[in-house]
Amino acid sequence: MKLTLNIWRQSGPDTDGGMVTYHLDDVSQDMSFLEMLDVLNEGLILGGDEPVAFDHDCREGICGSCGMVINGDAHGPVQTTTCQLHMRSFEDGATIDIEPWRAEAFPVIKDLSVDRSALDRIIQSGGFITAPTGSAPEAHSTPVPKADADMAFENATCIGCGACVAACPNGAAMLFTSAKIRHLNLLPQGQPERTDRVRNMVEQMDHEGFGGCTNTGACARSCPKEIPFESITTMNREYLRALRAKPTSV
Ligand code: FES
Repeated sequence: MKLTLNIWRQSGPDTDGGMVTYHLDDVSQDMSFLEMLDVLNEGLILGGDEPVAFDHDCREGICGSCGMVINGDAHGPVQTTTCQLHMRSFEDGATIDIEPWRAEAFPVIKDLSVDRSALDRIIQSGGFITAPTGSAPEAHSTPVPKADADMAFENATCIGCGACVAACPNGAAMLFTSAKIRHLNLLPQGQPERTDRVRNMVEQMDHEGFGGCTNTGACARSCPKEIPFESITTMNREYLRALRAKPTSV
């Protein structure tokens, strides 16, 4: 495949960036998108140029490290992670625009790499349980309704890649935050911190500068793990319940 790549290059957080055009002549359609960028970087390094910085780790759709806006879509034209996107999703001769996640709460570190530690701070504010785990309990000693268990697992599949934020026109992190809240609040082990969890996580989300939801649904359509859009509704309901249980002092 022959490709023309327009890639956002930015040498650091405090410098201006811009699109730079590169050409690749021998890309296999069986390569992943990240492998295609590896080939580009090998050429840049051999030519004495600075390689394109981008985030990745597992390259198996598990860790959530990878992420970039490809032709205007978070993770590109297929609802998967960038590392699981393959070049057969593009036409021979295609021009591909590649940009970092665009959101006020995700400042660019370099090129396609952004600082997503705001998501970590939301987790730190409440995305955990304090019940001692100890050794594995007997499986039937804590009954959980099947529908709750299934929905908790579905929300627990969120890998925190940030595609929902990048896809949202408001830069909202509500799908991410709601997935983390819902998967714990549905389970018996999550009940002791249920009220504080939702309050702390929603307030941290707002503090980080993420926008609010206006029901576009772009987040759910771009989520590689297909976190249900309705989780946001559940989070809003949980938040109102928490405010009634413990009114704010403000
Ligand atoms: S590199 Fe881990 S999900 Fe893509």
